[in-house]
Amino acid sequence: MEELQSIVWHNGRVRILDQTRLPGELVLLEISDHHGVVKAIKQLSIRGAPAIGIAAAYGVVLSIWEMEESDRSAFFERVNQAIELLRASRPTAKNLFWALESMRQVLTRHLNRPVHEIRGALLQEAQRIQADDLERCRQIGRYGAALLTPSCAVLTHCNAGALATAGHGTALGIVRSAISLGKKVRVFACETRPLLQGARITAFELHEDAIPVTVLCDNMAAHVMSRSMVQFVIVGADRIARNGDTANKIGTFGLAILARHFRIPFYVAAPLSTFDLDLRNGEQIPIENRGDEEVRCCGSLTAVPEGVPVLNPAFDVTPGALIDAFITEKGILRSPYDASLDPIKNLNLIP
Ligand code: MRU
Repeated sequence: MEELQSIVWHNGRVRILDQTRLPGELVLLEISDHHGVVKAIKQLSIRGAPAIGIAAAYGVVLSIWEMEESDRSAFFERVNQAIELLRASRPTAKNLFWALESMRQVLTRHLNRPVHEIRGALLQEAQRIQADDLERCRQIGRYGAALLTPSCAVLTHCNAGALATAGHGTALGIVRSAISLGKKVRVFACETRPLLQGARITAFELHEDAIPVTVLCDNMAAHVMSRSMVQFVIVGADRIARNGDTANKIGTFGLAILARHFRIPFYVAAPLSTFDLDLRNGEQIPIENRGDEEVRCCGSLTAVPEGVPVLNPAFDVTPGALIDAFITEKGILRSPYDASLDPIKNLNLIP
């Protein structure tokens, strides 16, 4: 499974595994310009906070890949426009803005260089962001694996796995690392309505790796927890505010309340690129609202009577107080988060 990557750079194009088609079909989208990357992000062909950031970084590269050497002003106009379009593709995941900021800094540093050098530097930066994310996931895996007991079941939501990152995964990276240490870990994957990332993507990638996984409908979590079938809840994150409030896939908040009720540890696994220390609390996190049709239909089934309104927020915010720990590539942060997150800022780990 580690070979199945969400995005690969190949000869002036990117290949994106279309996650909307999983698990039925393995379709690679070959994309040659930034508009194609924006579309792939918006329609969730590539999704998951770190993977969105990586895709956006390559989108910046594609925007100027074939531009003429001579026209410097058109070059800068194009790349700046591309950054703005990519920024507007999805609002919640901090990693998107973080990656684009890194790309902008490289652009600024090379401003007076010949166009071909700037192009090379931007590609190098996108590749660095991708390789760095894989390393961060492996570190998260190492720290998180130590928290798991020798034989346990982990409940997760949505997909915070290899396909949501550069590889290995955050929440699922912990499961993978624990298994490689010889621990016996089983996973319960909440299906994650409306778009079923848990059932379609988490179950797919774990099953490919022969990691035991059982899918449950979102409304079965309380039952499963009440029967002591779950020892840990581990999820990923899209954006984490300074006080630990965390935006993740809609439904995460409910799972955190349940976990507290049943005294099950609730962990958030995320790289530091997901933390937004400019935000005081979760109320300041922009929450994406997606189209009605995602809720109205379940596959080919019309699930809601015509004329009845629906809601479709893609994320909710779990209060930091319900999160027992954050598992990051630099170690484990425990509450109170104002105190434990501040040193990260001082260490300048977040640009
Ligand atoms: O709408 P999605 O599928 O992009 O939502 C993804 C999630 O909520 C993930 O849990 C989060 O991005 C973390 S991925 C490591």
